[in-house]
Amino acid sequence: MVSDFTPAERLKRIKPSGIRRFFNLAQTMPDAINLSVGEPDFTPPREALNLGWQAAQEGKTHYAPTNGIPELREALVGKAGSDYNLKYDPNSEILVTVGATEAIFLALEAFVNPGDEVLIPNPGFVLYEPGALLTGGVPVSVPLLEENEFKPSVDDVTSLITDRSRVMILNYPNNPTGATLSHDEVAALSKVAVERDLLVISDEVYEKIIYDSVRHYCIATFPGMRERTLLVNSFSKSYAMTGLRAGYVYGPKELMAPLWLVHQYTVACVDSLMQYVAVGALRGPQNFVHDMVKEFDRRRMLVYKRLNEIDGFRCSLPKGAFYAFPNIRSFGMSSEDFADFLSKEARVIVVPGSAFGSHGEGYIRISYAAAYEQLEEALDRIEKTVKRLR
Ligand SMILES: Cc1ncc(COP(=O)(O)O)c(C=O)c1O
Repeated sequence: MVSDFTPAERLKRIKPSGIRRFFNLAQTMPDAINLSVGEPDFTPPREALNLGWQAAQEGKTHYAPTNGIPELREALVGKAGSDYNLKYDPNSEILVTVGATEAIFLALEAFVNPGDEVLIPNPGFVLYEPGALLTGGVPVSVPLLEENEFKPSVDDVTSLITDRSRVMILNYPNNPTGATLSHDEVAALSKVAVERDLLVISDEVYEKIIYDSVRHYCIATFPGMRERTLLVNSFSKSYAMTGLRAGYVYGPKELMAPLWLVHQYTVACVDSLMQYVAVGALRGPQNFVHDMVKEFDRRRMLVYKRLNEIDGFRCSLPKGAFYAFPNIRSFGMSSEDFADFLSKEARVIVVPGSAFGSHGEGYIRISYAAAYEQLEEALDRIEKTVKRLR
């Protein structure tokens, strides 16, 4: 008997992430400097790790409540209150998830019907489009263009909305461009969401990683938005906990119940020890985040300055996150070919802009979450190598 084990039809809609290809390449090239991966090179705060370690020794290794341990949900209530003056009920309006990744996936799974249109940033984080496609949804690209500082134009967004539009995904501070939004820009987008009755998935994982005098404006605080926003966040970036997979989502209880349902049947609950680490991160002194951002700022300025000094690159100053997104069109190569070229010839791994969507073509993403000295060395190598192309 020959069995038919071909994968499910819906998998044909998606392809592997362009980031992973370059990340995997880095594993096979030990002499290469890896600037492809979006994770801080810091160790999480000691207080946080200690609480996790203590929980392990106390044997707190059993199933946790589906929505997260009470201590963490309480700490998250405190965070939303002190950061944004937002109130969420710890029992029905917060879900602890396997990173922001699971939260985004749950939100799409719970609210997108086949044929529903999902507005996604382009370029944008690699999960949004496949996440929408797996539900049978139709991703609709909102162009983020360099001439508009990589911010969405409200006219573009309005013109892309149809009767089938259901969800708008926003991500500020932005991966891969480093753009942030002002108060008025968030207000304008929230007005569109209210007028056109869109559910907003706001991915704010880089909320704390902002520079100069930039402030982060949480969209759920704007009029009419709390009731239509799923506010996604994570410990991955702010507390350098990428591997612990600690994320969370806030929302009004009517929106949270469907997420809870999908979460229950996919992961049952989140790793219990990790949740104690997360409690420790929120309870401990917050100068960890401040010091980390100060160091990212130093690296940001190095990368921005050096790239603009190299003939052929044009790089705008990132205002948030830890990515530079320079324009590489003058080299006359596709971003994929250019990233391949840098990996082979300069032994520096970056991600082609096309991995983040069609409007990322013509750019590469450089993560400056790597050590300062490594960045210096990488930029020297890039400078020497691209000279050969001029
Ligand atoms: C914009 C954005 N959202 C979500 C994630 C996923 O975060 P987590 O590690 O919490 O799943 C990332 C990771 O790079 C990201 O850049």
